[in-house]
Amino acid sequence: MGRDHLLALRPWESPETTSWQRLPMNAVDRRSGALSLDGSWHFQLLPSPTGASGEWTLADVPGVWTMQSRGDLPQYTNVRMPFADVPPHTPAANPTGVYERSVDIPAEWAGRRIVLQVGAAESVLLVHVNGRPVGISKDSHLAAEFDLTAVVRPGDPATVRFTVVKWSDASHIEDQDQWWHAGITRSVLLYATDPLYLADVTVRAPRDGRLLVDCKVRDTAGPLPEGWYVTAALDGQLLAQDTEFDRLNAEDMRVSDFYGEARLRTVVRDVRPWTAETPELYELAVRLHRADGSIADSSHHRVGFRDVEIVGRDLLVNGERVFIRGANRHDFHPLTGRTVTADDMRADLVVLKRFGFNAVRTAHYPNDPTLYDLADELGLYVVDEANIESHDHAHEIADDPRYLPAFVDRVSRMVLRDKNHPSIIVWSLGNESDYGANHDAAAGWVRRHDPTRPIQYEGAAKIDWADEQLASDIACPMYAPIEECVAHALSGRQTKPLIQCEYSHAMGNSNGTLADTWAAIESTPGLQGGFIWEFWDHGILQRVNDGRPAGRGGVGLYGNGVTAPGHRWAYGGDFGETIHDGAFIADGVVFPDRTPKPVMYEHREIAGPVRLTYDEGVLRIHNRQHFRGLEWLAAEWLLVGADGTTRRAPAPLPEVPPGGSAEVPLPFPPPEPSAAGETWLTLRVTTADDEAWAPLGTEVCVPQVRLAAAATDTAPEAATGPAVTLDEDALLVHPSLTSAPRLSLWRAPTDNDELGGMAARWHDWGLDALVRKVVDVREEGSRVVVLSEYATGAGPVRHEQVFTPVSGGIRIEESAELPAGLDDVARVGTVFETVPGLDVLDWYGQGPWESYPDRSTGAPVGHHSLPVDALFTPYLRPQESGGRHGVRRFTLSAPDATGLAVELGAPGQVSVNRYRAEDLAAATHHDELVPRPGCVVHLDAAHRGLGTASCGPDTSAGYLVPSGSHRWEWTLRVL
Ligand code: GAL
Ligand code: MG
Repeated sequence: MGRDHLLALRPWESPETTSWQRLPMNAVDRRSGALSLDGSWHFQLLPSPTGASGEWTLADVPGVWTMQSRGDLPQYTNVRMPFADVPPHTPAANPTGVYERSVDIPAEWAGRRIVLQVGAAESVLLVHVNGRPVGISKDSHLAAEFDLTAVVRPGDPATVRFTVVKWSDASHIEDQDQWWHAGITRSVLLYATDPLYLADVTVRAPRDGRLLVDCKVRDTAGPLPEGWYVTAALDGQLLAQDTEFDRLNAEDMRVSDFYGEARLRTVVRDVRPWTAETPELYELAVRLHRADGSIADSSHHRVGFRDVEIVGRDLLVNGERVFIRGANRHDFHPLTGRTVTADDMRADLVVLKRFGFNAVRTAHYPNDPTLYDLADELGLYVVDEANIESHDHAHEIADDPRYLPAFVDRVSRMVLRDKNHPSIIVWSLGNESDYGANHDAAAGWVRRHDPTRPIQYEGAAKIDWADEQLASDIACPMYAPIEECVAHALSGRQTKPLIQCEYSHAMGNSNGTLADTWAAIESTPGLQGGFIWEFWDHGILQRVNDGRPAGRGGVGLYGNGVTAPGHRWAYGGDFGETIHDGAFIADGVVFPDRTPKPVMYEHREIAGPVRLTYDEGVLRIHNRQHFRGLEWLAAEWLLVGADGTTRRAPAPLPEVPPGGSAEVPLPFPPPEPSAAGETWLTLRVTTADDEAWAPLGTEVCVPQVRLAAAATDTAPEAATGPAVTLDEDALLVHPSLTSAPRLSLWRAPTDNDELGGMAARWHDWGLDALVRKVVDVREEGSRVVVLSEYATGAGPVRHEQVFTPVSGGIRIEESAELPAGLDDVARVGTVFETVPGLDVLDWYGQGPWESYPDRSTGAPVGHHSLPVDALFTPYLRPQESGGRHGVRRFTLSAPDATGLAVELGAPGQVSVNRYRAEDLAAATHHDELVPRPGCVVHLDAAHRGLGTASCGPDTSAGYLVPSGSHRWEWTLRVL
């Protein structure tokens, strides 16, 4: 059968064909000692699998051709397929990459078994070697191995050819919400084994210290030779042969002469169990011996001893009901698309660890194998998800028998590959594929093969989380309102642990109400957490001049989430595609360059290992961990006074068991209640030693309590000073301002505002283009009162400003009356613009990072200072950003210390940046924004919370800005 014969099978439209001549998946790691075939391959892109050949060029392996300027560019769709053909069909225009290179087969491999491993190919792989058909594989996120022994000659070069077809029957079950790419996304290897080889190794290591190692042995030469045996050592300690197992096998005649099984066992005394907090690993070396004792094959594994079980409605790790503080993570890179290096993955997981995450869901497919090694090592619980998402045609496919083999194939191969990782605590059958018999078939396979881990699948636990569906042991809804989760847990009908597979959608400026969500989870038995959607903003670095992906060598990564000039973060629609889902691809807690978004600090605090309480004069330190003490942490006290001071003191951490707390003395004398202002106590917690994910001194959390409230009886300052000047429009004239204070009711819509429909409503009301009409101006002594009115689609808004000269400045008391119809606006406050040159903001309030009313738990009150340009958060699609919550006062100053000072009557939401709200709203990407020379300053008496309405619940009622009367007051002074 020649190349054309393989093509003649048209495997890209044959869901029953999951593979041909592919070797069984196993957990033997062949990465070390293999010959890497990564690098530059000859390449051509055909218009279809059977299209005529063209010119050879070169392409990177691993790499997707969609990121290598081949004319076939990335395309982003969420639910819908990018083509109209129904499963299992594909469009006639079907880009097909042909990769070819010559490989010198080492002469010393003579007599050995030679295996080719393709790390991952998207979406169908056809392999030919020396012109002979070698195999076919599907599943874009798992490796395929083929035995080349019969088709290559050691000492001679061999020609390896991959034909990679982009669209296939498999595309219909790889319809994840991400960029469509095509190519070879993981490394290609060639390795050799003895004809007698380890076909698989299964490790079981419960936390009681028992270790069971099952080995499968094969011989390609025929029946297994007499006398082979397996040995294994754990950190040097030899395991014993399980003779009982051997005897039973022999008695039952279960093992034939070509099928070898060996089991070894031991018990580790005083075992150090593995948990995400204590990722203790042991080294296991497994060796296969020939009869003469020489070693035919070996395999190395890192073993973690731990238990996972569901008891009642709790998921237990080592007997503890651990909270799952998870993130959904894709294999993504802004320069390569999908190809990620070990360093990339380590950097991802390090960021997650530093911000308090303890779990990853490999959304929505098995990730690069190295990710699991890193999760074992760094300590993260993993929900390993199979590569099945048929979102657009979910209902048809879930019960379609033609797709049955693919479901079982994908789930079982994932389990066979990953079963030995202690980090993996749950298998997931896939995502958004409805629920059908194909799922139950796959679940059945897993239950028999790996009874040590639960299974989850959202589709099976959707309609009623209490349903006893075969396929899901966990109720794992997505974006369920927290009130519904609580109601379920209290209903008496809950039968399964409730861990949301996705919650808190991180699109743009989002993730409102995370703290309230977690307060509910922690206080409601039966609720155990969830996985934030998602880790990455999948912006692809794009050159603006020619619209091409910057590619692997792309310069233009700049740090801080922004791109270098001439570049931008591309999202759906930016590569000229007409079918796409826009910026919905940018919904992660980190920017495409892995810069953490402000929500990460919120999460870090909520998840922090240490909490503080101060109740009736008693200060307590709480250990919020499940398994360890506070020995690995160091801390420092900060006493923050309203007088502008911050005093520091060492904070020796007491011994506190997991889940416990200890009273500690106040590090400073308790403030007098009559003292001038409020006082805050912050505990700055850092790592005491180098951790695998953080060097010594890394900040871990900054819990804070209020020791004294602000005095309430401060009388307003008496009128004094020079008279207030207004212009002919009754607007304030002030030397520091280029645009006078006016009413603002609108913000540049966030993604949540847009997709939740609020932005459209605000636009219909005319809030984005308020027209001011002065109704009355009157002088009352030295005070000037200006009454104006703004027409809106829901009735007029009355706005009053009362200007009073006070020592060194002006006090401005404002009020706004919103008609009943204007019952949900973005903000009520003041906006003004300053002269250029005021480039540093010093403030007393929450910070230092961006915070909003429903995302401010992680931003402690303090005396903060940042350059104005560093205040702004460059969300991919420009939108409201850079706000600071709970601001009491601030100065905006030039290097010569001139500038202005603002004191707010009550803590408010303040933002200072270079853009008007309408500048932000008009731009689609940051390269379109032109910074204004001065600052645009917003002081809000009320600001709508962020919510998560782009996918999930809107802002909760308590964080909405209602109609009616709003009053605020502030004082403006010149520095
Ligand atoms: C979920 C889905 C994810 C993603 C998310 C929205 O429905 O599982 O893949 O689409 O919503 O960003
Ligand atoms: Mg989807």
